[in-house]
Amino acid sequence: MSLPHSVVLIGFMASGKSHVARLISKHFDAPVIDLDARIEAACGASIASVFVAHGEKYFREQEAETLKQVLQESAEKPSIIATGGGVVTSDANRNLLQQATKDGVAVIYLRATPETLAQRIRQEPGKRPLIDGDRILDMEETQERVKVLLEGRRAFYESCANIIVDTNESDASNVAADIVERLNFSL
Ligand code: S3P
Repeated sequence: MSLPHSVVLIGFMASGKSHVARLISKHFDAPVIDLDARIEAACGASIASVFVAHGEKYFREQEAETLKQVLQESAEKPSIIATGGGVVTSDANRNLLQQATKDGVAVIYLRATPETLAQRIRQEPGKRPLIDGDRILDMEETQERVKVLLEGRRAFYESCANIIVDTNESDASNVAADIVERLNFSL
């Protein structure tokens, strides 16, 4: 099936954006663009190393520039775009995402509880500088950190998305199937 408009996945760290993007892309035979992977390729370093070497502000500048480019590219060629969890923290990025929904793009918030997210984050220790930047946290500390960050971002995710999918009870393939079904209505 061909994809009439792009799909952008947003949501907290470890909400499954990259994995679900790959599954949806198979269904539609559309390319996946992973924002963090683009930044890593451009910087020649992992996201964690970019944070250490240049700091968060520099990373956010790269992220904003990459989002702008990717949305432009995907207006020509509909794609499945996986974003980093903090993309919604910038006014400019939120404006871009909100404008994209007006142009037909599906912006999908993969929602999960702090408990679920913390469990998934702990499976990849050291990958996320905003959680494990100083040292690897234990489960309780991770949940606390996730709760605080999520509280500050929840409204941003909701304000950008035109589809919200709850992912707590579902694995990535069920989430992808749910999205494919719901896209038939909204695209
Ligand atoms: C971030 C999420 C990460 C990555 C960076 C910052 C965030 O991506 O972009 O570590 O601010 O939530 P994932 O959502 O893929 O973990």
